[in-house]
Amino acid sequence: MMRDPWLSATGPVLCVVGARPNFMKMAPILRALAAHDPALPAMLVHTGQHYDVDMNDRLFAGLGLPRPDVNLEVGSGSHAVQTAEVMRRFEPVLDANRPSCVLVVGDVNSTLACTLVAVKKGVPVAHVEAGLRSFDRTMPEEINRVLTDQIADLLYTTERAAHDNLAREGIDASRAHFVGNVMIDSLLANRPLAVPVTETLRRAGTEPPAFDVTRGYGVVTLHRPANVDQVETLGPLLAALRDISARLPLVLALHPRTRANIERFGLRGEVSSERIAVLPPQGYLEMLGLMADATLVLTDSGGMQEETTALGVPCLTLRGNTERPITVEQGTNTLVGRDPGAIGRAVEEILAGSGKRGRVPELWDGRAAERIAAHLAAWLARRHQPAEV
Ligand code: UD1
Repeated sequence: MMRDPWLSATGPVLCVVGARPNFMKMAPILRALAAHDPALPAMLVHTGQHYDVDMNDRLFAGLGLPRPDVNLEVGSGSHAVQTAEVMRRFEPVLDANRPSCVLVVGDVNSTLACTLVAVKKGVPVAHVEAGLRSFDRTMPEEINRVLTDQIADLLYTTERAAHDNLAREGIDASRAHFVGNVMIDSLLANRPLAVPVTETLRRAGTEPPAFDVTRGYGVVTLHRPANVDQVETLGPLLAALRDISARLPLVLALHPRTRANIERFGLRGEVSSERIAVLPPQGYLEMLGLMADATLVLTDSGGMQEETTALGVPCLTLRGNTERPITVEQGTNTLVGRDPGAIGRAVEEILAGSGKRGRVPELWDGRAAERIAAHLAAWLARRHQPAEV
């Protein structure tokens, strides 16, 4: 049943998070909605897609996120089960709270699931970080991006190329608004609070690494299914890391998916080395400290491509494509793919001093969330004004 949008004119902005990369995007948005004059009432719904202490609680604490008003506790499952379960559990929350709009971020399953529920009930949806495309439809996130952008009402973008992508998909330009990057709002606000790398290694409770981090180190994260779900791919990638560690010691923060696959494939020996510190997934302030002082970062994360560009730290992305081309064109990011030889050569180039320096892209200035709050407030006010007769 369609709901009369008039009824939700004064309801809260219902903000949705589900998985780790959503949290750092939502924190500055919630602050900006509260700081707007007049304040925009907001409500935080967590779908529970990520639930581990390491994947969830530590990030909430580090980012100063409030406790969610509602937790749907969907947990893990196949894509179909997870998406369906979020939809089923989100619908009554919408009905009960009659929001003025739903605000979603990023490209995880929770983003698409909540968008689909809201749009079919006539509740407007704002999508933050819209228009990014890897043009790789084997990535679950690409499907989530394309579908969310097709049906959301307001599309807030981080880079101008996103507008070309949206136009190519037939989306009217009036729905898209270039506001900058909320991920970088979080980074700039939290930079002074970053945990020093020595402290992070000590707190991790692992053996003190046999290397001196003040003489340089690399940070590694890997979690994309395309990189970690097959032994034929994960094995050579870990072997490449082991080779690199002979030249540059590494700090490897392991996502639960990757840790489980290393065990399952019997690859633990590949990362057992005095030159590789293996840590659990890190909190936000810990990861910020690790990246900020690193010689280089090796990753398949989307967010870390942006964060390293903002920090001016060379990033080697272990994928064949990126949905964030500005990090390659203007920032410090290089796509190196999965070929161990190519990865090793790129590391050598950086160690020889020819790493990319890059510059910070337009509107990655710490004020993106403020621009979103201002635009959203004006848009909601216009939408709920009585029609002239
Ligand atoms: C999800 C997002 C991905 C994002 C990543 C960040 C989708 C399609 N993917 O992938 O875009 O980059 O989050 O981490 O939404 N698990 C735990 N504890 C948790 C969460 C997950 O142990 O708190 C394990 C479970 O075995 C689970 C697996 O990790 O099955 C995958 O979790 P899931 O949320 O399905 O996807 P991610 O790989 O984390």
